Amino acid sequence: MGRIFNFSAGPATLPLEVLEQARDEMTDWQGRGVSVMEISHRSKAFIKVAEQAEADVRELLGVPAEYAVLFLQGGATQQFALIPMNLATPDQAVDYVVTGQWSKKAASEAKAVRRVNIAADGAPGNYTDVPARGGWQLTPGAAYVHYCPNETIGGLEFHDVPDTGGVPLVADMSSTILSRPVDVRKFGVIYAGAQKNIGPAGLVLMIVRKDLLERVPETVPPILRYASQAKEGSMLNTPPTYSWYIAGLVFQWLKRQGGLVKMGEVNRRKADRLYRAIDGSGFYRNPVAPAHRSWMNVPFTLPDAGLDAVFLAEAQQAGLSELKGHRSVGGMRASIYNAMPEAGVDALVAFMADFARRHG
Ligand SMILES: Cc1ncc(COP(=O)(O)O)c(C=O)c1O
Repeated sequence: MGRIFNFSAGPATLPLEVLEQARDEMTDWQGRGVSVMEISHRSKAFIKVAEQAEADVRELLGVPAEYAVLFLQGGATQQFALIPMNLATPDQAVDYVVTGQWSKKAASEAKAVRRVNIAADGAPGNYTDVPARGGWQLTPGAAYVHYCPNETIGGLEFHDVPDTGGVPLVADMSSTILSRPVDVRKFGVIYAGAQKNIGPAGLVLMIVRKDLLERVPETVPPILRYASQAKEGSMLNTPPTYSWYIAGLVFQWLKRQGGLVKMGEVNRRKADRLYRAIDGSGFYRNPVAPAHRSWMNVPFTLPDAGLDAVFLAEAQQAGLSELKGHRSVGGMRASIYNAMPEAGVDALVAFMADFARRHG
């Protein structure tokens, strides 16, 4: 069997070119007779991989020199707890904007260690829209404002960066990082689990404004401090070297595609095509406010949930996999990250039209 179009929300599809390069280099990397995963993270050869990956991601995202770039482990979820521990003291308030399951989980982890204020909560509208900025109850003097620019489960995305009036903005970009250009200067911290647009699970990319590194209270153990990781090149202990290497290959692939301006154009086109197919079908439905629909995760329902299993089975037969929606939302979800080619979206749209004709 060849490759299928894999719409998984994460771990998600990776560029075929990257997988092929990794395969070719698996047992004999750079003519060394070993795999890159079999060498010391402190060897010259691996340090070069690590430094190149950092240089490439800095170039892709335009990360200014006053920001540290960290390659950590523990998933984005671990950062839900480490961010409040590193950026706030126990008596400082931290603000959370809740627009879906992930920002809700981030707030809930933070509650265990700091004074969390929910500045806005989209729960009454079932997280299908972003609460109007004018209604956000931000705390004067808060340590930071946390939000999730793209909610992977609900398919709700901010298409602009909220203004927090000088309070550092912390963004969980797990499912939207590298999908288009961003102005890093508008953020205090950007972080992202790797398993959607960066590489294999096991790695978290963090971009932290250097002045914020100094905030960490004495009570936080060194291994959990961003400042110590920044000082030691993210190598306080053994990092997930193979994931880091694959991330480096993905960054090089992104540069070959023309960088983030180009990716943004392609991603927008893919998303537009899919939403047009949904809205024009009279059969499928996406519940999200049009101004906040995600370019990366597109949930949609069928008119009768009894058809879901048939849809999924027929889609699988047609080489379209992992379309089942999250259990909290139901229906379907197509995740169309950077590595999903336009041909994959075309194939999905054609299948959906045919399915609707037969079952509508
Ligand atoms: C937006 C967002 N944040 C956080 C996470 C959690 O990531 P992890 O499982 O790596 O902790 C996910 C996972 O899908 C996500 O989509």
